Amino acid sequence: MILDIKNTEYVRAVERVRAYTSPHNLKAHVMTFGCQQNEADSEKARGILSDMGYTICDDFRECDLILVNTCAIRAHAEMKALSMLGNFRAVKKKNPELIVGVIGCMAAEPAVAQKLKTDFHYVSFTIEPNMLHKLPELTLKYVEENKRSFILGEDKGDIVEGAPVKRDGKFKAWVSIMYGCNNFCSYCIVPYVRGRERSRASLTVLEECRALVSDGVKEITLLGQNVNSYKSDVDFPQLLEKIALIDGDFIIRFMTSHPKDTSDELIAVMKKYKGKIAPYFHLPLQSGSDSVLKDMNRTYDSKRYLEVAKKLRKEIPDIALSTDVIIGFPGETDADFLDTMKILEDVRFDMVYSFIYSKRDGTVAAKMTDTLDEATKSARMKRLLDTQDVISYEMNGLAVGRRERVLVESVSERDGEEIYNARTGTNKLVHFKSKENHIGEFIYVEIEQASVSCLLAKEI
Ligand code: 5AD
Ligand code: SF4
Repeated sequence: MILDIKNTEYVRAVERVRAYTSPHNLKAHVMTFGCQQNEADSEKARGILSDMGYTICDDFRECDLILVNTCAIRAHAEMKALSMLGNFRAVKKKNPELIVGVIGCMAAEPAVAQKLKTDFHYVSFTIEPNMLHKLPELTLKYVEENKRSFILGEDKGDIVEGAPVKRDGKFKAWVSIMYGCNNFCSYCIVPYVRGRERSRASLTVLEECRALVSDGVKEITLLGQNVNSYKSDVDFPQLLEKIALIDGDFIIRFMTSHPKDTSDELIAVMKKYKGKIAPYFHLPLQSGSDSVLKDMNRTYDSKRYLEVAKKLRKEIPDIALSTDVIIGFPGETDADFLDTMKILEDVRFDMVYSFIYSKRDGTVAAKMTDTLDEATKSARMKRLLDTQDVISYEMNGLAVGRRERVLVESVSERDGEEIYNARTGTNKLVHFKSKENHIGEFIYVEIEQASVSCLLAKEI
């Protein structure tokens, strides 16, 4: 069901929180771990906090309310968030009125919620994903009744529209088009913490994109855990086409796609609107071994994956491809790993994000026997990175001599000189010198040099 935030408890709660915040000029900070969806949710949280009367502040030590937006994808991400939370003990000592809230994927894990409740007495509440509109209510409960809240299982699969958003950037914007995941890849915790797939209505998405473009946004990134399985009144290729038809000088990106939903229609729309839709595709492989893919419940085999990758390269010849790979999934043999390496050499990805398997309680893979030792996992990781570095270097080298349209993102100083940072449509980082500040604009550069991770260019 689609709910308008105005028809929820939100409005009344915001009014009452304002009565608490307005006499004191209170400050709030939102800290983000994890993926782009979390970045987007944090912008929403900042919008809601501003509605509640808080001033958003960069330094958490000065704040009266701190939200930590957490990631649960791997154990390491969880440890980072918990150790950050540990720092707030001292802040709370100095400011006993401090409110600390935990949002994001960890907030939806029963074991984490329990740990926060018992071991982190200065955490005032947790809010599971998709329930951010509860922020004013839970803040109120804490300040008025001194009650901490660790509620789970409230997400009934609704979409709440109309939450305010305080965007970080002026010329780049995230637009979530779907939430949750139905795929249940056996290693992944996302479906358990972010719930089932639900897609926003295409009209609402279009309205948001039109408003962004007329505000001068130059790059819109459509977000979803499984973005290309978007399905409302239209499907993902149809939605992309509608957005591409919006008048204006902007580009569209999207992530993350699943190979099973990468249809011929999607590839055809990308080809048809190549100037508008960036020629870049992030297509997670996870493993090149058919038996591992089966155990991962990825629903495709290496042959199908290669077909999709090759079709993308054939239809959109200068497209850049990137992927995710998991190393050391339970039972991964040397031969399985070599199958992954073979696909990397075959597809020649522009960029590979590789992760060592991390056991997530509650997932199917957590019950599989995992006998692989750490040294073998690290050796495989090193071998993969070494091979991929050579490929990335060679792929980046193909751009040398080319004229590229780039979006200028920022400037940094190096040896007393201003170096501008920009991105090509293929999502490659470009550095160049310039006398003029073109941040937030598309300009043309000529690529002069390539390295493993970036390109050097001159303005033309
Ligand atoms: N262990 C390691 N990597 C994981 N990913 C998801 N779950 C796990 C896990 N349990 C990786 C996948 C996914 C990316 C976002 O994170 O490669 O595509
Ligand atoms: Fe996790 Fe698979 Fe869903 Fe991606 S598609 S979020 S890896 S379950």
